[in-house]
Amino acid sequence: MKKFTTVNDVNNLNNLLKLALELKQTPFAYKQYGENKTIGLLFFNPSLRTRLSTQKAAENLGMNVMIMNVSQDGWTIEMEDGAVMNQGSQEHIKEAAGVISQYCDIIGVRTFASLKDKSEDYQEKILNKFIQYATVPIVSLESATLHPLQSFADVITIKEHKTTKTPKVVLSWAPHPRALPQAVPNSFVEWMKRYDVELIITNPEGFNLSAEITQGVTITHNQDEAFKNADFIYAKNWSSYDNYGETAPDLLNWTITQEKMSLTKNGKFMHCLPVRRNVVVTDDVIDSENSIVLQQANNRTFAAQAVLLSILKNEN
Ligand code: CP
Repeated sequence: MKKFTTVNDVNNLNNLLKLALELKQTPFAYKQYGENKTIGLLFFNPSLRTRLSTQKAAENLGMNVMIMNVSQDGWTIEMEDGAVMNQGSQEHIKEAAGVISQYCDIIGVRTFASLKDKSEDYQEKILNKFIQYATVPIVSLESATLHPLQSFADVITIKEHKTTKTPKVVLSWAPHPRALPQAVPNSFVEWMKRYDVELIITNPEGFNLSAEITQGVTITHNQDEAFKNADFIYAKNWSSYDNYGETAPDLLNWTITQEKMSLTKNGKFMHCLPVRRNVVVTDDVIDSENSIVLQQANNRTFAAQAVLLSILKNEN
């Protein structure tokens, strides 16, 4: 693997999945591949899981880890080629990416959507500047439109908990007080399309994801209908793609409740976290035996470890 920013960077998902499950059993078996290698983890936005699980994954492989909260601790980076830098930005991405590439063998970047300019966000402007100017592999730690390390962990979790060959998986919109990016649901859809599941998306009118991403997937605005006989409910808020960045915090009838979960086939509850309790999902659902949110978060380590090892070995 040369980089990891989308499911399209994975040639053989089954092999990567097998590797992640092997690493879960024997996390320290491949330390020789990371010895004397360094990963730099650059965060333009906050994180708990991605930061800690990727650090743990790299350390399990024997790597040195450098972490920087770029927005707080670094110079403001100019992303425009040819910019006259007489305003707020102090350092150009050409130098920043070039310098970090001399210190690191792999660079991870977290850079969220602005939710102001759809075209800029969907062009993945910042991530692509790192890919363009770095001389080492780039790993997405969540970009403007995708979160592949999260989705890979979700695939691992579904594989571990499914009881039928092709489970029914429902991606459900849920309310949230603030506008959130489409990265997690976009990515989840892309990865589910590569895995053996029956995927259904349910969201309020006006909240369809990009048609390019959801092509071939059933979308319904009837949440109860979608939940019937589901094996997995994956809850997530996302802001509108069509009315870019708009949200609907008052649609509290979309909260995932025990009543709605009772429509499923003893379905498992999933969420990428962090989650707003009693807004996105009620306490009794997330605290129930059917909630596998902590198992998902645990699999973030082995998803990241399989990806980093594949890059270090240039496999998968
Ligand atoms: N799910 C996820 O990416 O969590 P963090 O934002 O805490 O990294």
